[in-house]
Amino acid sequence: MNILAIESSCDETSAAVLSNGKIRSNVVATQLIHTQYGGVVPELASRAHQQHILPVVEKALNDAKVTKNDLDAIAFTKGPGLLGALLVGTSFAKSMALGLDIPLIEINHMQAHVLAHFIEDPKPQFPFLCLTVSGGHTQIIRVTSPLEMEILGETKDDAVGEAFDKTAKLLDLPYPGGPLIDKYAKEGNPVAYTFPLPEMPGLDFSFSGIKTSFMYFLQKQVRQNPDFIAENIKDICASIQHTLVNILLLKLKKASKETGIKEIAIAGGVSANSGLRKSLIELGEKLAWKVYIPEFEYCTDNAAMIAMAAEYKYLINDFCDQTVSPAARMEF
Ligand code: KG4
Ligand code: ZN
Repeated sequence: MNILAIESSCDETSAAVLSNGKIRSNVVATQLIHTQYGGVVPELASRAHQQHILPVVEKALNDAKVTKNDLDAIAFTKGPGLLGALLVGTSFAKSMALGLDIPLIEINHMQAHVLAHFIEDPKPQFPFLCLTVSGGHTQIIRVTSPLEMEILGETKDDAVGEAFDKTAKLLDLPYPGGPLIDKYAKEGNPVAYTFPLPEMPGLDFSFSGIKTSFMYFLQKQVRQNPDFIAENIKDICASIQHTLVNILLLKLKKASKETGIKEIAIAGGVSANSGLRKSLIELGEKLAWKVYIPEFEYCTDNAAMIAMAAEYKYLINDFCDQTVSPAARMEF
């Protein structure tokens, strides 16, 4: 059984082939055009998806050594994401499924980030908690089965990836700044500067206040010493990263305590953060959690996770028809 999956929700055009439960190829074309604008420009993202989608799909098929006639289904990201970007992948998938006369499978991008854990061993046991952290989302999800998920808490304003990227912008680092903060943080002192943690009830998050504190802190320091950022970039990045990771882990600890669940996973682009990965492993050892961290390749946006989610839907004949259209916002 061969499934071709397409992902185009933001600034990554990706295609993957899954054959009998195993990922055979995962091709990702990252759109570099956005760097010069300091963030993703939706119109440019749609146009770049148009340019990349055919070569990316062809490479995914070639890498997997299958032809389009070997395919049994086409899966695509329906949402959430940028509407114009989603339209490219959705239209492409619909046309291909129509042409080949094979089933079409719609996938929720956030659900797919969670199911990236089922691409490789070890796989989490149900029920597990998944902290899904990306440029658009910050959620703690209780996962009862592959297709049954419930959001226990989420951000009420910015996503943690956004907090990383916007802070990086204040430091004059190019977009996306998250990976660069991570890089500098590796050599810095995480408690060089401290920031007040947000007070958010329950399992919800808030990152807009902390982003403002970083901004005021930097403005004040630069007034006293114009070279403050250049001279202290490593300590600044380490302290900011330490604060953001702390906010995430405090809520995750609370969620585990409240639910009694000790199978803990992380997913989404920010789960590539080395500080988060390290602190989560340490906390897991202390609290007797079983911690699951995906391979880097499956943390940021990729079509392999879309293919994995599609397999679960294929097995229960959960297909959609040609009237399907993308959704910028989407519930589970
Ligand atoms: O899941 P993803 O690829 O796309 C969305 O669905 O948003 O996540 C992208 C986000 C960006 O905010 C990026 O800065 C962040 O993930 N990110 C990181 C790291 N790698 C990616 N943030 C911190 N440290 C990293 N190593
Ligand atoms: Zn994502």
